Amino acid sequence: MFSDMSALSLLLLILLVSTIFVYTKNVVLRKETGIPGPRGWPVIGNLPLLNSESIVHLTLMNLAQKFGPLYQLRLGMLKVLVISSPDLAKEILKNQDASFAGRPFTLLGELVFYQRQDMIFAQCDDNWRLMRKLGSELMSSKAVQQQQVSRHETMMTAVNLLLECQQKQLIDLREELLDIIFYHMSKLLLGKRLTGGMSAAKSSECNGRKNLSQLIRAVASLPFLVLGECFPFLRWLDVGGAEATFVQVHREFDSFISDAIDALRREATSDTPEEQGFMQTLLSIQHTEEGKNMTDLQIKCLINDFLMAGVETTTGSIFFVMAELLRNPDVKEKLVKELDEVVGRERVVEESDLINLKYLKMVIKETFRLHPSLPLLLPHESTVPTTVGGYEIPKNMQVFINIYAIQRSPELWESPNSFKPERFANNPVDMKGQDFCLLPFGAGRRQCPGMGIGALMVEITLATLLQMFEFSLPAGMKPEDMDMTEKAGVTSSLVYPILVSVTPRLSPNLCSMQT
Ligand code: HEM
Repeated sequence: MFSDMSALSLLLLILLVSTIFVYTKNVVLRKETGIPGPRGWPVIGNLPLLNSESIVHLTLMNLAQKFGPLYQLRLGMLKVLVISSPDLAKEILKNQDASFAGRPFTLLGELVFYQRQDMIFAQCDDNWRLMRKLGSELMSSKAVQQQQVSRHETMMTAVNLLLECQQKQLIDLREELLDIIFYHMSKLLLGKRLTGGMSAAKSSECNGRKNLSQLIRAVASLPFLVLGECFPFLRWLDVGGAEATFVQVHREFDSFISDAIDALRREATSDTPEEQGFMQTLLSIQHTEEGKNMTDLQIKCLINDFLMAGVETTTGSIFFVMAELLRNPDVKEKLVKELDEVVGRERVVEESDLINLKYLKMVIKETFRLHPSLPLLLPHESTVPTTVGGYEIPKNMQVFINIYAIQRSPELWESPNSFKPERFANNPVDMKGQDFCLLPFGAGRRQCPGMGIGALMVEITLATLLQMFEFSLPAGMKPEDMDMTEKAGVTSSLVYPILVSVTPRLSPNLCSMQT
């Protein structure tokens, strides 16, 4: 009993001292920087604004209306700078790119991404540079071109999986898309041999992979903020169980990737370059000048990064295009007409057709504008003290670039919340990081290295699915009945699933299987 009391007193004392420490630090911070921002509570600061239910990018967009395009928040012990204008985004991501290319400490990075030794969560050090270089080479235009046959096979697999789905009355659109993209990414990363062909994609062998794709989804849907990051001394409480989920995800991914490395090393093969995945390429150059003696850990980090960063973003982008098409039948009709005119109905769309599918590109751009996969990009961090917009920014300040707010700003876009692909008809704005009003892949040295392959996957998947199938809402449901309420989480998603029926538009015989 006595020892229980002492433990309790000690705990209370620690809490009291920490409280005074955090409060003093926060007051000093505000006085130091003079950056505008909402008044916060003692100790917890502005945390009540971002509870687990809140859609963080929406809340931050609303705050920008009051505090302007540059303001700060205090989230427990964290200091966060929020940017909501293209000029300031350019300042951070271009003019002062090097000073803001850091990544803050996050439990996700620590527990799921190999103690932040990977590309996504590492600071811009030599290790990051090596992984970024090798990652970019793996996804160069030449390499992407080489995988064209593999992508075509994936598309045919997708069509056949959906043909089976037509027997079901309704399918969950996002889940089906997740299966397709996860299958493709597995093939891209691990190679055809380990991923298996069409039959494996449907068999129980696939259950392990399906489990992994669901884990990626689970991570993406976790709350934006983990309490242990705002108050490191409370980490042991693991409120909400995020840490436990992270540890489980890491264990499963690490064993999946380690098994794949072992399997590739064990079995010598004569796989063609098109059949090889990134992992096999990395293993074959590992001990050469080109591979810079990269370690197994670095290989694991890259594969883990690509799976985690590539699957959910690509799936979500395709999902939101489909959702907007279901809500806007006139746009869908125009798009399908374009496909019939450019490709016809006697053959399946090919990648060489994409350049002529101008309206498809406009539809995708408009969807990226309204529904960016990562509405706040990934968090950046200042690596040196600097000045932005006339304010002094201390070192180690976390920075959120709210591209959701920028891409829906009424000052930049007419009818910003309406879905109008035509706005891009005579508008040269592109998404590659040169125009700071449209940044779905970010910009600067932390820009998405998978942009080329991600955008291509979005285009070819949509072109194939829309050419081959008619997707319809459940009988009696009108487009305006669709519930587009957003769900809290790191990536964009909706609270309610979108259920659709699938009917073939063209003869399935067009898709002769080659897997
Ligand atoms: C349509 C699909 C995709 C979208 C919208 C997207 C978007 C993004 C965004 C916004 C960032 C953060 C940029 C920043 O912090 O400033 C990012 C980072 C990243 N993405 Fe993507 N991405 C997509 C697909 C992919 C794919 C297919 C891969 C890999 C195969 C990938 C790999 C990465 C990696 C490794 C990073 C971290 C880069 C670093 O920190 O140096 N992404 N992506």
